Amino acid sequence: MRVSKAVVPAAGLGTRFLPATKAQPKEMLPVVDRPAIHYIAEEVDQCGISDLLIVTGRGKRAIEDHFDRAIELERLLEETGNPRLSELQQLLDRLQVFYVRQGTPRGLGHAIACAERHIDNEDFAVLLPDDLYLSDEPALGQLIRVAEELDAPVVAVVEVPKADIGRYGVVAVREQVSPGVYRVLDMVEKPAPEDAPSQFGVVGRYVLPPEIFAHLKRTAPGAGGEIQLTDALKALCEARPVYAVTVVGERYDIGEPLGLLRAQISFALRRPDLADGVREFLAEVTNGL
Ligand code: UTP
Repeated sequence: MRVSKAVVPAAGLGTRFLPATKAQPKEMLPVVDRPAIHYIAEEVDQCGISDLLIVTGRGKRAIEDHFDRAIELERLLEETGNPRLSELQQLLDRLQVFYVRQGTPRGLGHAIACAERHIDNEDFAVLLPDDLYLSDEPALGQLIRVAEELDAPVVAVVEVPKADIGRYGVVAVREQVSPGVYRVLDMVEKPAPEDAPSQFGVVGRYVLPPEIFAHLKRTAPGAGGEIQLTDALKALCEARPVYAVTVVGERYDIGEPLGLLRAQISFALRRPDLADGVREFLAEVTNGL
């Protein structure tokens, strides 16, 4: 596998964050002082990928504005010597960001199907902005390494407590092929805990071949009336070997409020300019509990 393009689905309705997401995209909710999708673009860049396709939809204009120049702001900051946009500008110099619209949010599988034209028969990466990682090696980079070594599609998985397994696509796996790498035998979307084939839930990083588009086309709406990526991945596993990788690092599911709060604190604690203040505040509030 050779990955030179990344797809970020960002056309979902974000109902778990209403009313915050009534008039702004969930993917633009900030973690400290950067929108969630900004960290995803950084991860793509860290993997040496410069072609980033974002799947957007109605009400997602702020995402396009974020990855665009803001000439008045740049001028103002230049005059005052404030560097707050320079890091983003450098990122934009390296990344080419493309957009495709998903007219109706018919599920993650459908969002990825919208990328077919742009991907143009190449292998590609998918990153969900709901999942942020703090890790030494970028989470996607860990998958790409395995996909290149095994010349096979790879999905990221995390070991999930039994009570939560019904929220995930779950893989059935064979024994490890190397530390943290498993051959996937089957996949099932949101199983009841007693039916889950393992404790491994699929999370938001994938390296996929272009054949996935043919499988998506054959995928009927599944759980929740949505076209599920898991169903197409299940068909892919039947056609060729697919591997699951347990990513080394801390994962934050920022698709729901408690996960976003946890990410805010952890990301702030990694920031030299904020860590002491956050620690003091945490000590203060936890003493009062
Ligand atoms: P989620 O399953 O979290 O759905 O999507 P959602 O609509 O964003 O949020 P909730 O569940 O209503 O709160 C995972 C990722 O897939 C994208 C979302 O934008 C998110 O980044 N997605 C989902 C699409 O692009 N299109 C869809 O039809 C569904």
